[in-house]
Amino acid sequence: MNHDVERKIQQLKKEKNTVILAHYYQLPEIQDIGDFIGDSLDLCRKAANTDAEVIVFCGVWFMAESAALINPDKTVILPDPQAGCPMADMARPEELLKLKEQHPGAVVVCYINSNAEVKALSDICCTSSNAQAVVESIPGDREIIFVPDRHLGEYIAEITGRPLILWPGYCIVHQRILPEYVAEEKKIHPAALVLVHPECPKEVVDMADFVGSTGKIIKFCRESGAKEFIIGTEQGILHQLKKQNPEKSFIPASDFAVCRNMKKITLEKVLSSLETLSPVIRVDEAIRDDALAPIMRMLEIR
Ligand code: 13P
Ligand code: SF4
Repeated sequence: MNHDVERKIQQLKKEKNTVILAHYYQLPEIQDIGDFIGDSLDLCRKAANTDAEVIVFCGVWFMAESAALINPDKTVILPDPQAGCPMADMARPEELLKLKEQHPGAVVVCYINSNAEVKALSDICCTSSNAQAVVESIPGDREIIFVPDRHLGEYIAEITGRPLILWPGYCIVHQRILPEYVAEEKKIHPAALVLVHPECPKEVVDMADFVGSTGKIIKFCRESGAKEFIIGTEQGILHQLKKQNPEKSFIPASDFAVCRNMKKITLEKVLSSLETLSPVIRVDEAIRDDALAPIMRMLEIR
């Protein structure tokens, strides 16, 4: 059955000059049909550089919306438009406007996990992979508002030594990775390295041997001589880790770190979106230019 659906997907993809971009948190079968799998930054860069006419984005809303902002002339599809990001929805534009009024000289750095209306009020975007470089690119005498992930913001403030004005947002999935779970796994696997995503709460980040984006965690495991790793991020990443490193062992730090929104994309929905070339993600013309500018500024940073 899956095989049949996959075959049709491959056929339609060619016929319709389509690229399938998939995030590491997607279901294994979706990662396996992706033309390109990556973290948020990799996927954003890929969306900016593709020649395909159609982009099927296997991820969540803000990712497809960013791809649509970058590519006004392409058809950008999110196979399930209900695949949102609760953290992105924690930043409301009217509240950000109020905070900006309280800090008129501040530079607004918005995590890519935000909606276009919030990006339109921001100066520069970042992902978990380049947040340090983005913050370090801002002159030292400027105040910085960091929206919406307070855990990533707290971590970046610590490693850059820059005081950031934090937003009270957080990822409901990484919030479920508790320090006691990590301690428990560490007791069972004393030789294992602890790798965590910076969306995790500070107490968890403080226990880590390595902190990085999904892409950086994958690179670290590939290059490391260690054999066991406790993984503190969404469980979809385990598929790629196991596939790339069959001789190493990966232990999830929490059984509850599953993003339901990421899992809304199924093979059947990808096939249906290729058949109908929908649902297309469109951005309100009134905010398009303002929302695109912070993404382009981010992409200029290496
Ligand atoms: P990265 O892919 O940038 O590590 O981000 C994880 C994430 O939360 C995507 O929603
Ligand atoms: Fe949003 Fe967290 Fe899911 Fe990423 S893992 S899409 S931040 S809810």
